[in-house]
Amino acid sequence: MYVKFNPSVLLPLGLLVSSTLSSPAFPQQQPLVPGNDLSAAIRIHSKKPPVDAESLAATIKTKNLLARAKDLYTIAHISEHEYGHPTRVIGSLGHLGTVKYVQQVLGSLGGYYSVSEQIFPAVSGNIYESRLVLGHHTVPASPMSLTPPTKNKEPVFAKLAAVANDGCSETDFGDDVKGAIALIKRGNCSFSKKSENAGKAGAVAAVVYNNEPGSVSGTLGTPLEHHVATFGIAAQFVEPILEELKAGKEVDGSAYIDSEVKIIKTKNVIAQTVLGDQDNCVMLGGHSDSVEEGPGVNDDGSGSITVLEVAVQLAKFSVNNCARFAWWSGEEEGLLGSTYYAENLSAEENKKIRLFMDYDMLASVNFAYQIYNATDAEGDPKGSEELRNFYIEGYKNLGVNYTFIPFDGRSDYVGFIEAGIPAGGIATGAEGIKTPEEVEMFGGRAGEWYDPCYHQLCDDLTNLNETAWNVNARLVAKSVGKYAESFEGFPKRTLETDEVRAERIGNERKKWKYRGRKLVM
Ligand SMILES: *[C@@H]1O[C@H](CO)[C@@H](O)[C@H](O)[C@H]1NC(C)=O
Ligand SMILES: *[C@@H]1O[C@H](CO)[C@@H](O)[C@H](O)[C@H]1NC(C)=O
Ligand SMILES: *[C@@H]1O[C@H](CO)[C@@H](O)[C@H](O)[C@H]1NC(C)=O
Ligand SMILES: *[C@@H]1O[C@H](CO)[C@@H](O)[C@H](O)[C@H]1NC(C)=O
Ligand SMILES: *[C@@H]1O[C@H](CO)[C@@H](O)[C@H](O)[C@H]1NC(C)=O
Ligand SMILES: [Zn+2]
Repeated sequence: MYVKFNPSVLLPLGLLVSSTLSSPAFPQQQPLVPGNDLSAAIRIHSKKPPVDAESLAATIKTKNLLARAKDLYTIAHISEHEYGHPTRVIGSLGHLGTVKYVQQVLGSLGGYYSVSEQIFPAVSGNIYESRLVLGHHTVPASPMSLTPPTKNKEPVFAKLAAVANDGCSETDFGDDVKGAIALIKRGNCSFSKKSENAGKAGAVAAVVYNNEPGSVSGTLGTPLEHHVATFGIAAQFVEPILEELKAGKEVDGSAYIDSEVKIIKTKNVIAQTVLGDQDNCVMLGGHSDSVEEGPGVNDDGSGSITVLEVAVQLAKFSVNNCARFAWWSGEEEGLLGSTYYAENLSAEENKKIRLFMDYDMLASVNFAYQIYNATDAEGDPKGSEELRNFYIEGYKNLGVNYTFIPFDGRSDYVGFIEAGIPAGGIATGAEGIKTPEEVEMFGGRAGEWYDPCYHQLCDDLTNLNETAWNVNARLVAKSVGKYAESFEGFPKRTLETDEVRAERIGNERKKWKYRGRKLVM
């Protein structure tokens, strides 16, 4: 059942784009329950056959997934007016349209789900211009995302000061940092911490140089009061300067960042089955937003559509455990929606989520079948490794190869892990390079990105591999079908006290290398 997309409900008049709006002709579903009568919905839906992994997987049709991809691509075009190209970035009409679309489809399932939205403030930044001069040379430095501008959004001229150790402690910053541009080595703590320490020490700007080969493209994450204008840069541009400073010479430079950080309101959409044990939920999600650069058909159209299509198909069944679906906003700005959601759970609500499954990018053109390597050994909450093992079995049963990828913070599982909720997921790859061995395992092209259009305008309808999408959508359906049927053998949740947490990860939080697409440390 494919609920036909009716754009006129969605789009303001005059923004209707073209005849591509008509989706393939699928029968329109009639709402089973008029209005919002919960007990009637429960009565009607509980007569449906009980779900299991295989039955739910059997409902997955590639043509349904593709029809929805077409809908999303059409919706991305509503932003053309403002952005000059299709996009579903937060704050755009394309993103609002995506959220409406999800709500519209869920709302047409006869009260099978109770659907809610969670509005939250999202920080988004723009960098208009920047320049860094060290000694006599303009150097290739990248301003960190969400950096504040330099004073008055103008260049500042100052001497350079080397910071001791790694700049993770306030005592690493000597008196010479006051009024200077601070040079700080990458590593051990977040860019945010380094920038904050530099700001507190009175630096006019901060430069984080790499502790490994290559440039540094990072984010400060959440803006903090003491952040100063901060760049990332390859070590080779800073090393000669450090030598001169060490020899007691004075070296000047200038820093310039014209940037803006703004806060907009955006929303997550959450849908929960009215059937099933409401205290024991399997939860899954994808993100509803794209980057500004493009329409995001694979990232994360493929994941968010899969989650939606599985939600639609699940409505043909009854469930023993509740299933909760999420479409996160602000993922591309640093996992904002999922983090807000997970941080905000009361202890009682937290415990109801038995596990969270992240589905972000499931149909990359040059794909690998990737499983997040969530493990007990890494201190991930108990159940994460069991979920990882479920995906291993799942790919084996589907007759395909798989690889493990680092569980290092690149998608919406972070907030859940930090809240002590077991999590994991699968993906097909972004800007990573496919190896020759992986070509033997999956086909495709070695030496190229898994998703050659990652975060670009060409992440459009041609940027999908149908084979990979079908395999992954069936595995997603199995994951929902299995846990909606039963949690037998799956670790029970215990509320995480400080002692339990300390046992799991020590007294420190797991140190994520990323928060979303950007490095944070
Ligand atoms: C890492 O930073 C902490 C302060 O946040 C500091 O105490 C520790 O010595 C640093 N570790 C290394 C290896 O530099
Ligand atoms: C939780 O949500 C409320 C309102 O919905 C908000 O005021 C609060 O800041 C949120 N807390 C966190 C930790 O995100
Ligand atoms: C997965 O994580 C475990 C535990 O940290 C580690 O021993 C193993 O090498 C990892 N596997 C891969 C392929 O990264
Ligand atoms: C799995 O990978 C091996 C190489 O490691 C390859 O020989 C085999 O054909 C692959 N199987 C499938 C189903 O692609
Ligand atoms: C998708 O991947 C499969 C397996 O590698 C390949 O046979 C097929 O041609 C690909 N399809 C597209 C549209 O690239
Ligand atoms: Zn994504």
